[in-house]
Amino acid sequence: MAQTRKILVKVGGETLLAADDRARLAADLAAVLAADPARRLCVVHGAGPQITALGQRLGLQSTFRAGRRVTDAPMLDAVAMAMCGQVGPALLAACLAAELPAVSTPAASGGLAVGQKRPPKAVPGEPGPVDYGLVADLAAVDARLLDALWAAGFVPLLSSLVSDPHGQLLNLNADSLVTGLTRQLAFTDVVLVTGVPGVFRDLQDPATHLPELRAAEIDGLIASGAVQGGMIVKLQEVQEILARGAQTVWIVGFREPGAIADALAGNPGLRTRVRA
Ligand SMILES: Nc1ncnc2c1ncn2[C@@H]1O[C@H](COP(=O)(O)OP(=O)(O)OP(=O)(O)O)[C@@H](O)[C@H]1O
Ligand SMILES: [Mg+2]
Repeated sequence: MAQTRKILVKVGGETLLAADDRARLAADLAAVLAADPARRLCVVHGAGPQITALGQRLGLQSTFRAGRRVTDAPMLDAVAMAMCGQVGPALLAACLAAELPAVSTPAASGGLAVGQKRPPKAVPGEPGPVDYGLVADLAAVDARLLDALWAAGFVPLLSSLVSDPHGQLLNLNADSLVTGLTRQLAFTDVVLVTGVPGVFRDLQDPATHLPELRAAEIDGLIASGAVQGGMIVKLQEVQEILARGAQTVWIVGFREPGAIADALAGNPGLRTRVRA
């Protein structure tokens, strides 16, 4: 018998800004389940632009280093509010309207994802180690919450907010959460939905789109400066996912209707397939 596919879909914050984009995404997710209701589907979402916008309304300046947000205590409040008070509920409502039995919760729930403060680290393009503040690396994953939700027929929607063992909330980059979950929970398929339909050698030139990318090429793309911002983090995490045994990671754009279901079905389309 064919293996039941365990599918992790990550959606970036930009995908979730507009109601019609959320509705299209929800319809795409519903189609993924309709293709085989036994599939175990989990969604992780970011909230990059929403956190920046809420921060501005609160008088907070956003700072990024190598694609990751530097997070002090006031900014952590904005992260929690945007993730769990704005983006999570908006995605939830769109999924429910598409008749997807969704449940929205921070990744911290039920001890699913436990964080630890990210130590100051050397990062590409920065002269010295970078202290990101209240930002997490993933320390541990406990699958029980997801197993319970799946067994009851629900689709978990996870905000990438975690806490450490001392009760400190921490901001975790959503792409880093994807890597940790994939490693611990053996997802068979990983689809990253973002603002652009995959990776470009030059983001300004559509002709440089890369339909196929090998993990070994990623370091060169980052070192050359061809890849910038959040795509640096995404590709570093993809490298990690592939190094841990996954075969393929898809990077798809949210503006392509049906992009997720099409990628999983192997239908043609504009996207990047990254392989080990
Ligand atoms: N060479 C490149 N190819 C593709 N995208 C690139 C490239 N260089 C930079 N980018 C940018 O990286 C972005 C993806 O990272 P970003 O962190 O902004 O979004 P996300 O991870 O999907 O969302 P979130 O951070 O909210 O979870 C793309 O939308 C694009 O603007
Ligand atoms: Mg990002």
